[in-house]
Amino acid sequence: MNQPDYDFGMIGLGVMGRNFLLNVADHNYAALGLDLDEEKVAALNQEAGDRTLRGTTSMEEFVGQLKKPRKIMMLVPAGKPVDAVIQQLLNFVDEGDLIIDGGNSHFNDTNRRSVELAEKNIHFIGVGVSGGAEGARRGPSIMPGGDGEAYKIVAPILEAVSAKVDGDPCVDYMGKTSAGHYVKMVHNGIEYGMMQLIAEVYDILKRIVKLPNDQISEIFSSWNQRELSSFLIEITAEIFSKKDDDDTSSLIDKILDKAKQKGTGKWTSQSAMDLGIPIPTIDAAVSMRGISSQKVNRLRAAETFPDEHFELAGIDTNVLVDQLQDSLYLAFIVTYAQGFSQLSEASLEFDYELDMERIAKIWRGGCIIRADLLEDIRKAFDEDPQIPNLLLSNVFKTEIQRTQNSLRNILKLALDYNIPTLALSSALNYFDAMRTGRLPLNLVQAQRDYFGSHTYERIDKGGTFHTDW
Ligand code: 6PG
Repeated sequence: MNQPDYDFGMIGLGVMGRNFLLNVADHNYAALGLDLDEEKVAALNQEAGDRTLRGTTSMEEFVGQLKKPRKIMMLVPAGKPVDAVIQQLLNFVDEGDLIIDGGNSHFNDTNRRSVELAEKNIHFIGVGVSGGAEGARRGPSIMPGGDGEAYKIVAPILEAVSAKVDGDPCVDYMGKTSAGHYVKMVHNGIEYGMMQLIAEVYDILKRIVKLPNDQISEIFSSWNQRELSSFLIEITAEIFSKKDDDDTSSLIDKILDKAKQKGTGKWTSQSAMDLGIPIPTIDAAVSMRGISSQKVNRLRAAETFPDEHFELAGIDTNVLVDQLQDSLYLAFIVTYAQGFSQLSEASLEFDYELDMERIAKIWRGGCIIRADLLEDIRKAFDEDPQIPNLLLSNVFKTEIQRTQNSLRNILKLALDYNIPTLALSSALNYFDAMRTGRLPLNLVQAQRDYFGSHTYERIDKGGTFHTDW
């Protein structure tokens, strides 16, 4: 066998793995891929061109060709496939080698694998990679966590391939154990929230303002030039201008309204519940994917309860479009605020020692939730690293005050038109609840004490109390 002369190995040559590896090779690292599928290996070999890049179907050859300490990343489906690959790798790797899980693994799996591999003196890092296929190819946002010393082994490569904002790489060490995968999971939760909010705004533009798709496209395009500027707004504009292949109609109108999910949004909600941190806008987005999937039931209910809303006269389209822009902006701020509050609590609970400013910084480029707003979020954490909730930051005070009435008006209108706005309304309700000094939950405490003697605290004196109601 030849001398090992490859710098970096990738297991799994699906779209993400292949693109990531091409990106590595473009940065002058000798890159080697492994996949059991001969066609994928052949495709990689063909695409290699002048690069030092090659694929193989043999794990023994793959491991043998990598320079030590070996840097082996896998981009395979989360769950059992990750464990299966690690088991196979253990037959070939040596102590001190580094295994990198770049998929959307559940953080508890990453914790378990960190312990199992540390016992064998194999370095392991769980790394969130965001940006889809294009990001992997041209520069993703990368969220590594786990063994900090091990991260240093691969840091130069990850920095080279990551997206850059003002010259800064969109990769940074997140923290111990599963910190990288946890941050990526919350990234995806925020992604779900933003996507659902945009979908609700689309519904209002379509059903209340009754705009055709090309005009909706123009509106999103113009919003993308201003404070809403973000990857998701940009692609939304493009989606509405896309025609179907076989005719001149809009493709969007042909797409079935059932949204699927791989689970990271649900995991975000589950973990937030476990931590006792409210993230209702992300929860709403997960719920709406569930409701969208119940197409048969929805069609039955639509027959039983036909939409008989009252059409309002004299709606000023320009005013409404501006209010929608403000509403979306405020709802985005609230969604990020929820995600970051979850990260703060998770950091304490799991001892991750997350740095919120660093997270905002590496999310500014490459990832799906990249947005101009993240620079303001970074500033907010720079001003006050311990801020418990972004809604309390001075950075957002004026903007929240400016936009909140727009969201109120939009929601009133949506209610009149029977348009579901679970995410938009949850964002405003979260804000209203957070800024209400005295909520009616004193009653909940009284009820708990009434039927279960669960006791309550008082506002006029210390201690715990029980009343014989
Ligand atoms: C990313 C995306 C990526 C993937 C989502 C899709 O950051 O690049 O989040 O990880 O597209 O996992 O998730 P769903 O299938 O659950 O929508």
